[in-house]
Amino acid sequence: CPQTSFTGKSIMITAGPTQEAIDPVRYISNQSSGKMGIALAEEAARRGAAVHLVLGPTHLKANHPNIRTIPVDTALEMYKAAQSIHGKMDAAVFAAAVADYAPSQPATEKLKKTDEELHISLRKNPDIAYLLGTQKNGRQIHVGFALETEQESKFALEKLQNKNFDFIVLNSLKDEGAGFQKDTNQITLFFKNKPSLKTSVLPKKEIAGIILDELGRLLDTTTKE
Ligand code: C5P
Repeated sequence: CPQTSFTGKSIMITAGPTQEAIDPVRYISNQSSGKMGIALAEEAARRGAAVHLVLGPTHLKANHPNIRTIPVDTALEMYKAAQSIHGKMDAAVFAAAVADYAPSQPATEKLKKTDEELHISLRKNPDIAYLLGTQKNGRQIHVGFALETEQESKFALEKLQNKNFDFIVLNSLKDEGAGFQKDTNQITLFFKNKPSLKTSVLPKKEIAGIILDELGRLLDTTTKE
């Protein structure tokens, strides 16, 4: 099937991990490299979209003149950056691995190793996809990601509903060739009213193409209404 053109479309993509400070030199984060989100940004840009990439800390860079990268560190910064541009977007792809919790009160000085046990209290971060999902207008398309280690389709389908996504991309850590840091991925797409679609193991660029084909189809239907 022919590739959809994204010329004239604005797409926001969140990508990468977030870092939540424990003290001035330490943080809580996760294994995300941002590779999948960056591949999506580059492929969307190549197809003509104006891409706004809200990117958590990673050494990787997105490379295309149609991509504006907004670098952030924390979930709160990612939320503020995403919130400030979301209203103008035709679509949003939530590919970031946002830390679910952040230290409630990051220490202003470096913590000392005095006690045998150290307890750090954590507070829930804003759920960016959920919050922007409540603000979504009838024309905007939202794509989510899920990475599960158990009951994968059940949790993916729950997130599709709860976060008001139009479809969700399930990454499985059980699949060889999928997951963090890798250059390949294998995904299953779950939709609201059509059967799910599982890909083979493919380079992240091709996986990005498959996700964007689906996104393009949905954008076409909302603009024709
Ligand atoms: O609930 P869970 O973290 O598994 O949901 C994953 C999806 O929600 C991803 O699309 C992720 O980018 C998004 N998310 C978010 N803000 C959070 C947590 C997750 O946007 N605080």
